[in-house]
Amino acid sequence: MGLQDPVLLREAYRQPSLLHPDEKLDRRSRLFTAIVKVVECSGSRGHAAYARHRAARGARSPSMASVGGQSEKGEAVRTTEGRVEDKVVIVTGAARGTGEQTARILIDEGARVVVADVLEERGQELVAELGEQASFLLLDVTSEESWAEGVAQAVDRWGRIDALVNNAGLFHMEALEETELADFERLLGVNQVGPFLGMRAVVPAMKSNGGSIVNVSSVDGLSAKNGLVAYASTKWALRGMTRVAALELGKYGIRVNAVCPEAGGPEMRAPYVPDGFDPALTLAFTHKLLPYQQERPPIELVRDIARMVVFLVSDETLSCTGADYPVDAGWTAGRHLSFNPGA
Ligand SMILES: NC(=O)c1ccc[n+]([C@@H]2O[C@H](COP(=O)([O-])OP(=O)(O)OC[C@H]3O[C@@H](n4cnc5c(N)ncnc54)[C@H](O)[C@@H]3O)[C@@H](O)[C@H]2O)c1
Repeated sequence: MGLQDPVLLREAYRQPSLLHPDEKLDRRSRLFTAIVKVVECSGSRGHAAYARHRAARGARSPSMASVGGQSEKGEAVRTTEGRVEDKVVIVTGAARGTGEQTARILIDEGARVVVADVLEERGQELVAELGEQASFLLLDVTSEESWAEGVAQAVDRWGRIDALVNNAGLFHMEALEETELADFERLLGVNQVGPFLGMRAVVPAMKSNGGSIVNVSSVDGLSAKNGLVAYASTKWALRGMTRVAALELGKYGIRVNAVCPEAGGPEMRAPYVPDGFDPALTLAFTHKLLPYQQERPPIELVRDIARMVVFLVSDETLSCTGADYPVDAGWTAGRHLSFNPGA
C-alpha cells in the first residue's frame, strides 16, 4: 500500500488491518494521518451545511452532468442551462452597469435576483423589465440599518439567500496631493465598508445552507495607477477582506471570491472622460493584447465580468474560494515590450 497516497493513507487510518505488517508508519505519515483526522473533524460542519443546502433545494449532488465535464463514455457533457436555477442572489449596485448586466444574466440562468441600489427609479424600471424573478431593494451599502432591513426583506420575499454580489462602487480620480479626505472617506464607505457590512449581514441567513459571496474589486486592486489613491486603496482592501472572509466562512460552506475587472459600466468613469469621447468606446481601446477586443461591442466587455460573477455564484466553482479572478484581457499579466522578441 502506498503511504504517500492520501486516499489510501486515509483508508489505512480507518482500517489499520489493511496495512502490510512490514509497512511501518514513518514520522511523516503519522503526522499526515493526524492531519487527516483533524481535517475530517473540522470539515464536517461545512460539509453538513452544504449537504443540508443541497437537500433543502431538492438538488442532486454536483455531478458531471449538472456542472459540465465528461460522461462515462468520455464524451463532453454540455453545461446545463439554468446553472444558478432557483438560487436567490442579492446584487448591490444593480440598477446599472456591471450590476445590471449581472442581474440580467443571473435571471437568464434561472436565479431570483434582488436588485439592490440607491437609484430607486432606475432599479424599479429594471425589475419591471426583468419580471417576477426579480425584486428591488432600496439599499445604501454604507448603512448598517439599511443592510439589516434589506436582508430581512429579501429573506421575507424569497425565503433564503444563496449568494451576495458586492458590486456597488464609487470611482474617484485625483492626484494624491490634491485628494480631499472627504473624497477618500466617501470611497471607503461605499467600496470597503459596504462589502464588510454586506458580508456580515448575510452570514446568518447563509450559514445553515452555504453559499457564495462575490466581491467586485478591480485591476486597480491588483496593480497601481497614478491618480487612484482613494479608489485603489479600497479595491486592494477588498481583496484582503475577501481572503479573510473565505478563511472564516468556509466552515459554513460559504465561498468568498473577488473579481478584478478592467472594464465596467461607462457611467462610472464618464466624469473623467474628456468631452467628445464616448466613455463606452474608451474601454475597448485599453485592450491591446487581444486585438479582437477592440472590435467587440463595449457592452460585451461588461457582460464578460457579469459572466465571471455568475460562474462564481454557480455550483460550477465549488472548489474556488479566497481567490482573485481578473477579467482584464491580460492587463495585469505583465508588460508587453514591443522591442522584445515575440511582440
Ligand atoms: N467602470 C469601470 O471601469 C470599472 C472597472 C473595474 C471595476 N469596477 C467596479 O465594478 C463595480 C460596478 O461598477 P460599474 O462599472 O457598474 O459602475 P456604475 O457606476 O455604473 O455602477 C455602480 C452602482 O453602484 C451604485 N451605488 C453607489 N453607491 C451606492 C450605495 N451607497 N449603496 C448602494 N448602491 C450604490 C450606483 O448607484 C450604481 O448603480 C464597482 O465596484 C466598480 O468599482 C468598475
